[in-house]
Amino acid sequence: MGADIGVTGLAVMGANLARNLARNGFTVALHNRSVARTDSLLNSYGHEGNFVRTETLAELVESLERPRKVLIMVKAGGPVDAVIDELTPLLEEGDIIIDAGNSFYEETRRREEALREKGLHFVGVGVSGGEEGALNGPSIMPGGSRESYDSLGPMLEKISAKYHGEACCAWVGTDGAGHYVKMVHNGIEYADMQVIGEAYDLMRSLAGLEPATQAGVFREWNTTDLASYLIEITAEVLEQEDELTGRPLVDVIVDSAGQKGTGRWTAISGLEVGSPVTAIAESVFARSISSQRDLRAETSRVFSAGINEAITASELYGEDDAQQDFVEDVRKALYASKLVAYAQGLDMLVAAGEEYGWDLDLKSIASLWRAGCIIRADLLDTIMKAYDVPAAQRPKNLLLAEEFTEALNECLPAWRRVVAAAATYGVPAPVFSSSLAYYDSLRRDRLPASLTQGLRDYFGAHTYQRVDKPGTFHTRWSQDRSEAEV
Ligand SMILES: NC(=O)c1ccc[n+]([C@@H]2O[C@H](COP(=O)([O-])OP(=O)(O)OC[C@H]3O[C@@H](n4cnc5c(N)ncnc54)[C@H](OP(=O)(O)O)[C@@H]3O)[C@@H](O)[C@H]2O)c1
Repeated sequence: MGADIGVTGLAVMGANLARNLARNGFTVALHNRSVARTDSLLNSYGHEGNFVRTETLAELVESLERPRKVLIMVKAGGPVDAVIDELTPLLEEGDIIIDAGNSFYEETRRREEALREKGLHFVGVGVSGGEEGALNGPSIMPGGSRESYDSLGPMLEKISAKYHGEACCAWVGTDGAGHYVKMVHNGIEYADMQVIGEAYDLMRSLAGLEPATQAGVFREWNTTDLASYLIEITAEVLEQEDELTGRPLVDVIVDSAGQKGTGRWTAISGLEVGSPVTAIAESVFARSISSQRDLRAETSRVFSAGINEAITASELYGEDDAQQDFVEDVRKALYASKLVAYAQGLDMLVAAGEEYGWDLDLKSIASLWRAGCIIRADLLDTIMKAYDVPAAQRPKNLLLAEEFTEALNECLPAWRRVVAAAATYGVPAPVFSSSLAYYDSLRRDRLPASLTQGLRDYFGAHTYQRVDKPGTFHTRWSQDRSEAEV
């Protein structure tokens, strides 16, 4: 009997996925460009299951059962192409190459097409959950052909995270769909973290709540409809004391957020497919501004009248229990903004599905994110239920699902108060504010885009349509200003 699957690329992610597969009873053939990594894995964890040691890709391929399944977990970009080029001549029709790294979906589409012409299946798989997820059960978003999922799917489902016994793994769509869904997951993750940051900043700047006290607030919030992994770990980070100085750790960490690019890809793709993912884009921009530390230092001196340090919640709310009220308002603003981020991300999936020919099932996708991944949250179960209705009744936008229209109505006054306070006292809250603007734009029957169209027609004869009759029109602005049908 040959091995069930081969894994090439045994750095932290590949090694952990290989161990996860072996622990679940699969025989796993191992390969890494430098053999030392293979041996290190075998020395430390060889006892965990059935592994086959190989030194070359040819040996790896030879060791596999047909149809062969080779999972690539190398550095994204050129290395993936390099491995595919070496692997392809060694494989036969019907074999499956799996790329479970963080590849850009357009590259996955290109690779899938090229390999399909050679009779091979190429499956781009989105994997979320970091090192720990890879080892103990990640959220898995496979793309590629439906046919390849028939033989690969059961293995991936077995090693995936489980939400109340249900696998967080399902085929999402052809070619690059898996990597696309993972990318949008990461975009939502950016927004999720940004709104948490905004809530923290507002509570500290306007209500004077120190990090350790806020840890308790976030812990409390984790028992509400905000319950999620990110809220849970926010409490942990906020209560951490710096060993060196005794100050809150969050005060000694440089306030410049890093990024590996998936949030940026999501925002760019949102622009390309014409989907307004404002919460995600603002979150990416917020990280960019955070990185402009020298500029911020200089600007904070020039515009020193920034946050009024003397402002307290009682000045904002003018009541005895003002602080508590403000905290509750911030919680509601956070929830509403988070809902917008998810609504926009899911809308973007629909737009991308139309663009790339994927029939994406939002209910199934929400189900994949319920465990194993960074954005895992109780909210996803509710989102799933919102789409668990006959097609004709599915909400056009998540915010229109009954569960969420009610929640938004309940949060709205608080959301407006918080955004108003942020603007009045100069605390940046880009996602709280832009999400409210998105909500207000969506619920407006008429937008000033009519004026935009008028201006475009004026300077560029771009034409416009009328609300009262069909056709395309132009006003002769530089002549007698009469209207012509064009
Ligand atoms: N889903 C998640 O939560 C998550 C988290 C982290 C990373 N990732 C993604 O998972 C993938 C693997 O990440 P990682 O951190 O484990 O590893 P990595 O540092 O991205 O890559 C190191 C691995 O790539 C191999 N490699 C590099 N260039 C190669 C080439 N030209 N030919 C063959 N092999 C090459 C290395 O082999 P040598 O040992 O010979 O150098 C090593 O096995 C990446 O796409 C990464 O973005 C995902």
